[in-house]
Amino acid sequence: MNFLGIDVGTGGSRAVLTDASGQVVASATIEHEPFASPRAGWAEQDARDWWRASAAAVREVLSGGAASAEEVGCVGLSGQMHGSVLLDERGEVLRPALIWCDQRTDAQCRSITERVGAARIIELTSNPALTGFTLPKLLWVREQEPDVWARVRSVLLPKDYVRLRLTGERATDVADASGTLLFDVAGRRWSREMLDAAGIDERLLPRVFESPEVTGHVTAEGAAATGLREGTPIVAGAGDQAAGAVGMGIVRPGAVSATIGTSGVVFAATDKPSLDAGGRVHTFCHAVPGRWHVMGVTQGAGLSLRWFRERFGARGGTAQGVSDGTALRESGDPYDLLCDEAAGAPPGSDGVLWAPYLMGERTPHLDPHARAALTGLTASHTRAHVVRAILEGVAFSLRDTFEIFAEMGVPVETIRLGGGGARSALWRQIQADVYGRAVETVEAEEGAAYGAALLAGVGAGAWPSVDAACEAVVRVASATEPDADVSRLLARQYGRFRALYPALRAIAESPAQ
Ligand code: XUL
Repeated sequence: MNFLGIDVGTGGSRAVLTDASGQVVASATIEHEPFASPRAGWAEQDARDWWRASAAAVREVLSGGAASAEEVGCVGLSGQMHGSVLLDERGEVLRPALIWCDQRTDAQCRSITERVGAARIIELTSNPALTGFTLPKLLWVREQEPDVWARVRSVLLPKDYVRLRLTGERATDVADASGTLLFDVAGRRWSREMLDAAGIDERLLPRVFESPEVTGHVTAEGAAATGLREGTPIVAGAGDQAAGAVGMGIVRPGAVSATIGTSGVVFAATDKPSLDAGGRVHTFCHAVPGRWHVMGVTQGAGLSLRWFRERFGARGGTAQGVSDGTALRESGDPYDLLCDEAAGAPPGSDGVLWAPYLMGERTPHLDPHARAALTGLTASHTRAHVVRAILEGVAFSLRDTFEIFAEMGVPVETIRLGGGGARSALWRQIQADVYGRAVETVEAEEGAAYGAALLAGVGAGAWPSVDAACEAVVRVASATEPDADVSRLLARQYGRFRALYPALRAIAESPAQ
């Protein structure tokens, strides 16, 4: 029997096929249209594009010959969290989804916090009202686009739109639902009191399942679009962070991951909901029944490097081909080129610092208006210093979460790296040096789609539990030790990094001349 995981990401949708023992036998990624940002801080994507890309990715893995559709025993879904897919009574998309990094809902966050009370919101949902979460987005549409809101009959999270197209069912999982601000994270169910306070009808929301539970089966239409067999069961799956954690074996207290995708996330599994009184980290349900997790999020992690690549090119002196990507494709992976270039600058980037707040910031500042900055430049600095400063700045920003975990008493026994930050040897070393601890990578670093495939395997009974699946399949591939001298130097540089945000805030708040 084979298992299929689908991850509806931001940049693209990825399908990963495993065999019965959890080994990856095929994978495919189909890119999405880049998210639209019609105004500063806005971020929108068309849910139908996610379906197009997911269906194409599944067709591609199934056409490779590694397994036939008949052999796929179960499918798991994962995806970018917090997005608002708004559907009418026929299930048609009413407007582009406001996605996780959209920052337009400051006013809605303030008004719901005033109405319900900051402490009460945390009691009800384990989290404060944050601009990226789903409820404030619904309130924005209700206020700003009442005609659209009047036609909304269903609200789904991104991956659950793909589930609807595959199975005809409206369902979600506890981990993804945790990021809506409408979910009682401690009780693992929709929060009646939040729904009432916000005036949202529970009938708009999907049914909630634990991650390994089967929520439905592929319909004839779903089968025609993807090549899957009609009747294939689909498990609830999980939001991308929880699914990615399962794929890396981050399921028990003490296990922590640091994943750098578009966003950067430091994620710890816990056996009860652990709260930060300041709400600086998120407290969500884990994809493991009966467990939770805490995580800190850097909005612009991999995004920082992508932004640099898109605006200034992947190779010094060759801005040509940047806009259409041709030259980049011909000369190798652009991120490898950038990391090779960064290796030419010394640790600490000779004092250059990058504050990665390109899309505001969540942990620790909770400030949708935060702005990015590059500081400390002199005429002798090169592109290499700037790229290295970006890699270091992202790691400093992730370290902020480790500091909060220490304050909260969240245990950190092992750190596993995921995403782009795990693939580059330089970024791995920078992370070990900045966190001051050894960091590991795992063999099948296939991201959230892999975790979703393991959840599908648990749903199909291949393993008795998520823990058992992780024990059976997740293997450590490498360990990187910190260099004590470099760690000390970067600890001093981190001290300077901490001074950046208050200074940037003072600049942002000073009146324009
Ligand atoms: C998690 C979060 C991001 C998105 C992007 O809270 O917002 O990780 O899920 O993939």
